[in-house]
Amino acid sequence: MARLKTVHRCQECGYSAPKPMGQCPDCSAWNTMIEEVVEARPGAAAGAAARRMTDFSSEAVALKDAPAEAEARTSTDIGEFDRLLGGGVVPGQVLLLAGPPGIGKSTLMLQAAARLCAQKTQRPVLYVSGEESLRQVSSRAQRLGVRGDSLFLLCETDLGKILAAVARVKPWLMVMDSVQTVFHPELTSSPGTVAQVRECAAELLRVAKATDTVVFLLGHVTKDGMLAGPKVLEHIVDTVLYFDTERHDLLRVLRAQKNRFGPTDELGLFEMGEKGLKEVNDASRFFLADRDGKTQPGRVPSVTIEGSRSMLVEVQSLVVHTKYPLPRRMATGMDLNRVLVLLAAMEKHLRLRLEDRDVFVSLAGGLRIKDPAVDLAVCLAVMSSAREAPVPADWIMLGEVGLLGEVGRVPHLELRLKEAAKAGFHRALVPARCAKELSRKPGLEVTGVADLRSAAELIIKGSDLDI
Ligand SMILES: Nc1ncnc2c1ncn2[C@@H]1O[C@H](COP(=O)(O)OP(=O)(O)OP(=O)(O)O)[C@@H](O)[C@H]1O
Ligand SMILES: [Mg+2]
Ligand SMILES: [Zn+2]
Repeated sequence: MARLKTVHRCQECGYSAPKPMGQCPDCSAWNTMIEEVVEARPGAAAGAAARRMTDFSSEAVALKDAPAEAEARTSTDIGEFDRLLGGGVVPGQVLLLAGPPGIGKSTLMLQAAARLCAQKTQRPVLYVSGEESLRQVSSRAQRLGVRGDSLFLLCETDLGKILAAVARVKPWLMVMDSVQTVFHPELTSSPGTVAQVRECAAELLRVAKATDTVVFLLGHVTKDGMLAGPKVLEHIVDTVLYFDTERHDLLRVLRAQKNRFGPTDELGLFEMGEKGLKEVNDASRFFLADRDGKTQPGRVPSVTIEGSRSMLVEVQSLVVHTKYPLPRRMATGMDLNRVLVLLAAMEKHLRLRLEDRDVFVSLAGGLRIKDPAVDLAVCLAVMSSAREAPVPADWIMLGEVGLLGEVGRVPHLELRLKEAAKAGFHRALVPARCAKELSRKPGLEVTGVADLRSAAELIIKGSDLDI
């Protein structure tokens, strides 16, 4: 392991000092002094730099002559995980799996590590835990029913010892749980500080790239905003995955924030149970679970698309007389500003009076979406609640609503209609222009509407739209 000389450098003005300091003596900023590595001897510096260079660099070659082999991906055998990874992990890939405390990072990783083990039995997988004892990890493995004959455990936080173990075990994949607990013995900063996290990750990255080892770094982020730790790693790793619940604890959602080897618009859905994380394959049923064919004012189903997955969602709305001088507007699971625009469009084009009403709009199931294709469902849900008129239960609503009250086209309409038909819906309200272009019979009756008014007249009982 490299012998290091370090200084504490102000991240604002660049002032450096040999000792840690709370306040920068030069620019007077607080908590900006972060330990950094400087190479002590010129020879050593050149050597280290050269060593770092050779790990990545090569002679310049013409692109047409560059070797382009198909990446050999190894599947995690967890469909929802593979979906995010673009099929599996790639040799030398460094991934950051970040999430709030207790979300299930260690659980997911242990389950994935065991499955990955079974894919390549010639070489082991190494799971390094800096947070839990051997007994804790193995009893979790027992609870999850996880076993892997070539899965090795190591409970250690000293990076030097971890690297020694890596050299001994020669894993094809290693997990570092978590990157905030590991420390570089030659830095004086404590574990979890920016300096430690950055330097330890850099060292593990070098190992990954030099030996084609897949490295998973687990990291904590706090609920409000990101902790310094994982944030500073985002640009050096190949893939950043965030694991979190959206709104409430029903569902754990894995999203890719950055990916050099796969898509970033996908999401992986899991449920936490006694036996660990279970994949949620049939997301639609999950979101419409308590529907059982009942009609009720204010609930309107639609279909959203995330990555390559289409999901049924239910928009719910509640419109009541306000008790405050200023009526309240609340949106859960979607963008409030978007909802405000839709409300304004409805006030203008449907003469719907909402100035003395509180309006609440929410997406059932706990997901957060940005898909404008649910606009029409939002508008009809608000209308339906305002007029106490339920929307027929077998209709699905799809369409973006514009400022002028027009119902605009939605991408991937056929995919959405297929999902709705599969879930037992019989009729769909879609943008008029899209309805004309449908090539195949979608498996349910499709009606096109050009604007909000015709949609409301068709769906909401009664012709007088003023309330
Ligand atoms: N015996 C159990 N039965 C069911 N669920 C459990 C059990 N033990 C733990 N859990 C679930 O596992 C979650 C913790 O998982 P895990 O330790 O993998 O999370 P983590 O993100 O690694 O947390 P940390 O930040 O502490 O490292 C708990 O919040 C709980 O939901
Ligand atoms: Mg953990
Ligand atoms: Zn300074």
